[in-house]
Amino acid sequence: MTLELPLATERLDLRAFTTADLDDVHAYRSLPEVVAYLYWGAQTREQVEAKLAEDATLTDLRGDKGAKLAVVERESGTVIGEVSVFGFSPELRSAEIGYVFHPAHGGKGYASEAVRALLRAAFEDHGLHRVFARCDFDNAASWRLMERIGMRREAKFLRNEIMPYSKDRPDPWTTELVYALLDEEWTGS
Ligand SMILES: CC(C)(COP(=O)(O)OP(=O)(O)OC[C@H]1O[C@@H](n2cnc3c(N)ncnc32)[C@H](O)[C@@H]1OP(=O)(O)O)[C@@H](O)C(=O)NCCC(=O)NCCS
Repeated sequence: MTLELPLATERLDLRAFTTADLDDVHAYRSLPEVVAYLYWGAQTREQVEAKLAEDATLTDLRGDKGAKLAVVERESGTVIGEVSVFGFSPELRSAEIGYVFHPAHGGKGYASEAVRALLRAAFEDHGLHRVFARCDFDNAASWRLMERIGMRREAKFLRNEIMPYSKDRPDPWTTELVYALLDEEWTGS
């Protein structure tokens, strides 16, 4: 089921990507500090361009590849980051979320505002039962965001993962956190 876009918040619009977003998206997907805890590494302009064509089609929360939305700062019209929902299970009505933002726009609550809008759509418009997210314990900005928006820490898997970004370290093990929220816990804020 396709998300009804844009999802508008006080300061942001969440919409489908377009190929015209190339400069804005390359600006953050190319930064080492942004991808430090992501499965994928920093992307070249060519890699972002190739990926954007596919990203532009991802608006179906229940689709195989889920939904990936551009987060636009309304005042400037700039794409400042992205949020995604993926891995939808029809039986369990659950899905995972992800988020990536340009650090130049960090510290203003934009990521929290965007993820809340995504949770609202997931619970209120699409009837999800459980939304969850995972991150590296060392990625404090990520788990602090989840706590800020009211997600509940469910698990801390000690030294359970070797990630693409950690595999070449002397000690490659990473510790994974799982956060979740149920529909009955969603307060609508
Ligand atoms: C994870 C990530 C999105 C968090 O970004 P962020 O800027 O910390 O989060 P927000 O946009 O919600 O901003 C929160 C900060 O703004 C402040 N803030 C200012 N105005 C605010 C408002 N109106 N509402 C909420 N917070 C506000 C908060 O106090 C908080 O500041 P603090 O970190 O000093 O406590 C960002 O670090 C990121 O994109 N990282 C790289 C990608 C990544 O690792 N993604 C997760 C993979 S698991």
